[in-house]
Order: sequence, then structure tokens, then C-alpha cells
Amino acid sequence: MLVTGPNGAGKTNLLEAVHLGTQGFSPRTRADAQVVRFGEQAGRIALRGARGESQVETELTLRIGEGKHAKLNGAALSAAEQLRTELAVLVFTPDRLAVAKGGPAVRRAYFDRVLGRLVPARATLSAEYAGVVAQRNAALRRIAAGFSSRDALAPWTQRVAALGATLVEARTETIAVLSPGFAERAEELGLPSARLVYEGTPPTVDQLEAQIERDLDRGTTGLGPHLDDVQLVSGVRDLRTFGSQGEQRLTVLALLLAEAELIAGRRGYAPLLLLDDVLSELDPDRRRALAQRVATKGQTLITSTTAAALPAEPAQLLEVSPGEVQLVR
Ligand SMILES: Nc1ncnc2c1ncn2[C@@H]1O[C@H](COP(=O)(O)OP(=O)(O)O)[C@@H](O)[C@H]1O
Ligand SMILES: [Mg+2]
Repeated sequence: MLVTGPNGAGKTNLLEAVHLGTQGFSPRTRADAQVVRFGEQAGRIALRGARGESQVETELTLRIGEGKHAKLNGAALSAAEQLRTELAVLVFTPDRLAVAKGGPAVRRAYFDRVLGRLVPARATLSAEYAGVVAQRNAALRRIAAGFSSRDALAPWTQRVAALGATLVEARTETIAVLSPGFAERAEELGLPSARLVYEGTPPTVDQLEAQIERDLDRGTTGLGPHLDDVQLVSGVRDLRTFGSQGEQRLTVLALLLAEAELIAGRRGYAPLLLLDDVLSELDPDRRRALAQRVATKGQTLITSTTAAALPAEPAQLLEVSPGEVQLVR
């Protein structure tokens, strides 16, 4: 489905509403009040669609100061975010370019979210690990300030080593399952010999203890997967630093398409793809390759200021003008 309209018409708003109504949160902001129309106190999104062969209906209401409430097929969910475990949606927004060109923290967060989507049981692993690192850092500072003895550190060192090893293992697996699809989609989009390289190693208690003086000095844990990065490579080039803006966009898209296939395989239905302003900076061949790929399965919503930017006939064309959405065909 192609969504067109001039700048500021509300294309991104529409896409955000679909995301909010299917996942329970905005891809743009964690401040829910921002998604309610300015000057209003509440908003409501109701959606109807299909998950595989079955029909689904969702409803999300948001009242400023009262939070969100969501229903799936008429039944109230305990939390709106529960929608994300029920419905699979992947989103590309121009901000996502940071996954390719931003610092390591952006990529860690991104791949940890991929991990959570692919293995829902592991969705909180990265936050749990970050929690124990923070606890260990707090203990380091108490010891350095003379408020606590070194013995207090041992349990946190052990926790960092244990959870750190689990996180490294889970990330390694995620990268391994994502890599082949990433290479294929990247190739198709004109990025040859692409690969993901993750070289995280589990931190051991011995290693952590060996650099205790350094850690006490700085008040931070200087070893572990909270410092790792994932290299994004095409041929001999590192796309993080040497990719053009367009190539970085393709890199992020290839990651998203690769994940979409894995999700389709695991859940038995293709995720909904929301691609905001994805066509800009792509040449006609790349646009065509992308259009052909997204046409193969599932449903994709693409926004663009001009219908001509998509070198394919969309199944549906929506025209957005301020305050109005029109189904052209
Ligand atoms: N909560 C809100 N209430 C009312 N208008 C908003 C709100 N949030 C954003 N807008 C406005 O909606 C307009 C359309 O934005 P957007 O969907 O990003 O346009 P497009 O993607 O079509 O270029 C913008 O002018 C923006 O300022
Ligand atoms: Mg927009």
C-alpha cells in the first residue's frame, strides 16, 4: 500500500497510528501524550486486519494522564504493549539510519530488540544485564568512596559474568540467524558480499577481577557486552563509516527484510512492514528491487511524497491531505 501526500500532510502520523494500534507504542516517542492531537485530551485508534488466516481487530485508547488501554478482538489486554507479542510489525523511519551510521550503543539496542522479537523469552535479557552492570558500577563507586568493602563487589562481578555470557551467546545466535538473509537482501538491493560481524566474548570473573583497579578508578565496568558493537560490512568496506547515506539506508532495510523473513518463518505469518520515507535517496533500480521484494509476501505500507517514486503498481493507493485520507484505488 502506498501512502502519498505533500510534506506535513500526515503520512507519518498515519503510519505512527498503525504502529501504535498494532504494537501499543509509538515508534517515534515514548511520551504518549505527544501522540494525542494537540489541544485534545484523548485519542482512539481502531484497526481491522488479518494475522495469517485469522481476522484481528485492535482498539487502543489513550487519555492524557490516564495512560493507554488496548483490546485485541474485543478482549482487554493487561497492558497495551502486550499487542507486540500478538502482532508482528517492523518499522523503518528515517531515524533508523542511526542503526548504520550512529554509535555502537544504537546498534546494540537495535540488535537486542531484534533478539527480543525473535526470541520473546529473551526480550528482557539486555535490560537485566544493563541492570546488573549499573549495580556493579554503583558498588564500585561506594567502594572507591570508602563506604563499602571490596567484598561487596563479588556478587555483582559474578552476575555481570553470568548474564554477560548469556547475552553474548544470545546475540551471537541472533546475528548468526540474521546474517544469511541480510546478505541475500543486501545483495538484491545492490550491496554485494554483505555480512554482519559480532565478536563479543563472554566476560569472565577472572577478567573482571583482573581490571578491578581500573574499574574502581573510573567507577564503571570496563569489560563486557555493554561495550560491544556489530560491524556492518559490504565487501571490504565497513558501511558504518564508509557507506553513503543511500547505502546505509539499504543496510538498515536489508536488516529489516531479513528479520521479516525470520519472523514469518517462526510465527507462521509475515509481519506488517511500515516503511516511512524509504524511497528517497534510492536510485530507480534499488527502488524496483525493494518494491519487488515487499510485494512477495505480507503487507507493506510505504509513504512517499510522490506516487511516481514507487516503480510498481501498489495494491492500494492512499492520498493524505491535512486531516483527510482518501483511498484513490
Ligand atoms: N499531536 C499532534 N497533534 C496535531 N498535529 C500534530 C501532532 N503531532 C504532529 N503534528 C503535525 O502533523 C503534521 C503532519 O505530520 P507528518 O505526519 O509528519 O507529515 P508527513 O509525514 O506527511 O510529512 C505536522 O505538521 C506535525 O507538526
Ligand atoms: Mg513524514
